[in-house]
Amino acid sequence: MERRILIDMYQGKRIAAVLLMAGAGERFQEATPKQFLPLDDKPLYAHALTTLQDTGFFDEIVLVCHPGWMSQVKGYVIAGGKTRQESSYLGLRALRQKPDIVLVHDAARPFITAQVIEDNLRKAIETGAADTCIPSADTLVYAPEGTITQIPERSHFLRGQTPQTFHYSLLLQAHEKALQDGVTNSTDDCRLVLRLGHPISVVLGHEENLKITTSLDLLLAEYILKCKAALHSS
Ligand code: CTP
Ligand code: MG
Repeated sequence: MERRILIDMYQGKRIAAVLLMAGAGERFQEATPKQFLPLDDKPLYAHALTTLQDTGFFDEIVLVCHPGWMSQVKGYVIAGGKTRQESSYLGLRALRQKPDIVLVHDAARPFITAQVIEDNLRKAIETGAADTCIPSADTLVYAPEGTITQIPERSHFLRGQTPQTFHYSLLLQAHEKALQDGVTNSTDDCRLVLRLGHPISVVLGHEENLKITTSLDLLLAEYILKCKAALHSS
């Protein structure tokens, strides 16, 4: 039923995905960029890619790749930029046919689910912009110069993940405005859309949709996969 509602909503709409996989993985501290390290039976990036493909929602998926690794990747692959913002903009502009809706996802998050993708598409179709977020278990402290000046109410804050999904023309406009204003290193597409004054809807993500940043995250991802395999075989 739910799936039918989405199909009704997006009938006649063109939907694209930009998978960001051009980072160097500096915090991971490995010669191989983290998205190309093996996780279970395939490279890390291929987990998110397979999930995106398997939903059947996307008319086009562009893989924005680390320039040194393009030959390792099958599909519609383009070279990324020096920053995430630049890679995202290059991905948007490389789409061969202008879509109505575009979903942007970090390849470093292997455990994106079909449900989160569907919730993103629905919210973006309805409101123009959607961000996947989860509550924070930790208290957040504001310490811009190393000393705490505020401890805000935790329940008012969420942690932003990806995917982030938009009306294509809105996101493109947000990127162009950011460049005009000299903003070049935003780690987040929603931030650029907010600069236009456009509100962003929240889609509930989950802890498991973690971003692989350090080797500890990769160990956790391996453990999550082992637990899933054990659940399926029992
Ligand atoms: N990314 C990208 N192009 C860049 C930088 C980042 O496509 N120039 C992608 C990464 O490949 C990743 C996602 O954006 O899938 C989120 O970035 P992050 O986790 O910060 O990855 P890296 O930038 O590779 O890692 P680090 O910041 O530790 O160098
Ligand atoms: Mg980075």
